[in-house]
Amino acid sequence: MAKFDHTRFEKSPFLFLIGILLVVSIGGLVEIVPLFLIKSTIEKVDGMRPYTPLELEGRQVYVREGCYVCHSQMIRSLRSEVERYGHYSLAAESMYDHPFQWGSRRAGPDLARVGGKYSDEWHAIHLGNPREVVPESIMPGYPFLGKKALDTREITARLKASRIVGVPYSDEMVAAALDDLAAQANPDSDTEGLEARYPGVIMRDFDGNPDVVTELDALIAYLQMLGTLVDFDLYRADEDGNNR
Ligand code: HEC
Repeated sequence: MAKFDHTRFEKSPFLFLIGILLVVSIGGLVEIVPLFLIKSTIEKVDGMRPYTPLELEGRQVYVREGCYVCHSQMIRSLRSEVERYGHYSLAAESMYDHPFQWGSRRAGPDLARVGGKYSDEWHAIHLGNPREVVPESIMPGYPFLGKKALDTREITARLKASRIVGVPYSDEMVAAALDDLAAQANPDSDTEGLEARYPGVIMRDFDGNPDVVTELDALIAYLQMLGTLVDFDLYRADEDGNNR
């Protein structure tokens, strides 16, 4: 019986290379092909909704100012992280982020669940000059945000663009984008439509200046929403760390 002679592979670099490619590609296919066959890799989670126009603009300020250079938005499933920041991040929590803001460096704390941790006033002071509230802070100040009126000219286009990449903004949401943006920063206005379209939306004059909707309003609205959409009483891990 002819025996398989592996010395032929070992003596010919070319044959050996073909052999390696064959074996590695089988491994790759086994891992990758199933991902194309399942409909979604993201588990559905109650509470996730698209960002409101004001939050979306705030997120834009966050990206523009490079906050992600120092802050992550991704709580890992390690005990030390969960004890410090709260429930580890779920895939669904970044499903409306284009691009995602997981970050890669933590010069400052993770922000995935910073919503509700501080008052709006704290954020307004901290963003203006972090050392007024955290004396040893190395975070830069952004005092201009509170002085700049938010440029809202692109909000409708932004909602439409998000829709192209899969965020389920309805025609109604797109049509009402400008009104919703103004209403969230001015709770004395008619907010009924906004509340119906974005359940659980936080409506406040975030920066303490009722005269104008500033970039600071938008950024604080975004920060106060982070990590608050999913009700974790429903997704508490059991003692073994498994979700139920
Ligand atoms: C040079 C790095 C750096 C940049 C850039 C930066 N931060 Fe920070 N940030 C920090 C550090 C360090 C802290 C911790 C000390 C403090 O609270 O100021 C912090 C703290 C914070 C906190 C409080 C978090 C908590 O849980 O206590 C928030 C909110 C925050 N940053 C938001 C932002 C936003 C929004 C931006 C962009 C406009 C930004 N940061 C840009 C370094 C940075």
